Amino acid sequence: MSPTTQTLLVDGHVVELRPGDTILNAANRADVSIPTLCHDPRLKPVGACRTCLIEVEGARRLLPACATPATEGMKVNTESERVDRHRKTLLALYLTDHDGTQEHGQGGAPNQLASMAREVGAPTDWGQLPSKRRGSIKDDNPYILFDPDQCIACARCTRYCDEVESVTAITLAGRGSETTISTADGISLLDSTCEMCGGCIDTCPTGAMTERKAAEVQAPPESDLTKVRSTCNFCGVGCQLDLNVDPAANDGRGLVVKVTSPPVGTTSNDGNLCVKGRFAYEFINHEDRLTTPLIRDADGVLQPASWEAALAATSQGLAGVMERHGKNALAFISSSRCTVEENYLVQKLARQGYGTNNVHQCSAT
Ligand code: SF4
Ligand code: SF4
Ligand code: FES
Repeated sequence: MSPTTQTLLVDGHVVELRPGDTILNAANRADVSIPTLCHDPRLKPVGACRTCLIEVEGARRLLPACATPATEGMKVNTESERVDRHRKTLLALYLTDHDGTQEHGQGGAPNQLASMAREVGAPTDWGQLPSKRRGSIKDDNPYILFDPDQCIACARCTRYCDEVESVTAITLAGRGSETTISTADGISLLDSTCEMCGGCIDTCPTGAMTERKAAEVQAPPESDLTKVRSTCNFCGVGCQLDLNVDPAANDGRGLVVKVTSPPVGTTSNDGNLCVKGRFAYEFINHEDRLTTPLIRDADGVLQPASWEAALAATSQGLAGVMERHGKNALAFISSSRCTVEENYLVQKLARQGYGTNNVHQCSAT
């Protein structure tokens, strides 16, 4: 460490300061875990939920780690009797109008409020008030379901819609314990500027904003699903996505019950997906989908075939054209819906396998 390096102490760990650091950033780099609910690294910090309050030596009050700039020489304690008392009290207050036993929302999304309350041992006997939050939207959109009972008004969904999507389709509405999520004038999301990207679902920490289709099929908790990383094939951007497979469904063959984005900061799409990538997965089991190769018989009728037979017929057909008309009579066309690797293989097949540069792909036009 150079003599000019600025540092702070987090639970006794010396952490090098980086420009723009919050205490939470510095703690994360020291592998010190601080609970958060309203924090999303893609969004500006607002310090709304108060779960991340920690002690800073010399400060009279507990400070929000997500929204407090880290400074040279700061001494931060994230675990103390005072911090523990704060977390238990805060989460017990949340539980007075939330059901702390529901560790998953409709559709199986994890409810971090309930799991956090269990982990810190928040009291659950402070009485129960009926939730005053209302789903003000009469909304028959096919993708997004809002469950006001689970909402903690952290505004991650509305901030995501505003700061990442620049769409501002949803907003906080109402006051005090009636604060809820709504569109302007409570119109349907379908009539609003919403692009159905589902980013509000992705960022929601409690499962209050969730996938309608997953709720309708009563998808199991996400922790019971198998996540299969894949590449979206709807356009050439190639976003990474996780197919959430219920292994027991479909007579044990497995069924994709939702698509989620990989965690923020891990892939190039940074936790974001569009309406197609997140919701248009029913083609996987569509009855029109080809499930086996087909070869035309002598009468020109397509007949099911094995992969070996189909590849052999393709190879013979291409070799026949080359023999009769020369290599430049062949042309290979790929698609921006394929991955980079698949496109690479097509051009390699054309150039190296058949000696022609006649290879094209739709994103090149
Ligand atoms: S789906 Fe996307 S555009 Fe629609 S409300 Fe949610 S974040 Fe906003
Ligand atoms: S719906 Fe989810 S993300 Fe939006 S305010 Fe409620 S808890 Fe937060
Ligand atoms: S995560 Fe810091 S106040 Fe919510």
